[in-house]
Amino acid sequence: MSKQLLPALLLLISLHSVQSYITYIEKRFPLEGERSPPGSPWPLPREWKKSLTVLTLDPNNFYLSSNAEECDVIRKATNRYKSYILIDSKYGKASPNRPVMPGIQVNVDNKDCGYPKLTKNTDQESYNIEIPESGGAKITAKTVWSALWGLETFSQLVYQDSDRAYLINATSISDSPRYGYRGILLDSARHFQPMKVLKQNLVSLSLFMSLKRETFLNRVV
Ligand SMILES: *[C@@H]1O[C@H](CO)[C@@H](O)[C@H](O)[C@H]1NC(C)=O
Repeated sequence: MSKQLLPALLLLISLHSVQSYITYIEKRFPLEGERSPPGSPWPLPREWKKSLTVLTLDPNNFYLSSNAEECDVIRKATNRYKSYILIDSKYGKASPNRPVMPGIQVNVDNKDCGYPKLTKNTDQESYNIEIPESGGAKITAKTVWSALWGLETFSQLVYQDSDRAYLINATSISDSPRYGYRGILLDSARHFQPMKVLKQNLVSLSLFMSLKRETFLNRVV
């Protein structure tokens, strides 16, 4: 046997004797559970009374007002959320055969416009949303910050039908954060992150604001 052949043969034998198990990661579709109907808030509020009464929003005639508009956080938020709620600015419209919900009033109890304080008292950021079967909707918030959580949840309740008409179900929601605060730590100390990535992270946090109290920490060591 030539000197080259022997190692080749040994290799072949060993390959044969090794039993290799290939574990397939089984696809488990369809996934368990069922899809939430459109206009379901996420994450689930503490209390959510669902209703089957469907109302419509008229984008040309929709108010979003607050008793705390002297606070810039609220003033900017009402402008911002109006475009999030009426997101389909080109084709979104009112449904012709449904009762119209004329708008939403945001009432803030404590109009202190300063930065929020880290506290374990999650009740400070509680809010309620009332969408009655007729008339305007109302958000009642303890602080300007919980008014933001309320607006985020409200914006998630609006959906569109196949004609692109804005719809919203009558409902009542009462919610408060589960934890005093949550955080995300982006460790950019040894993994340089460009400003753009940091900002993208901030934006994605704000999209899920209704996680209630995200705190962004950027560790720079
Ligand atoms: C809204 O009402 C419709 C029709 O009654 C119902 O099918 C749907 O599940 C409701 N959606 C929500 C989010 O409650």
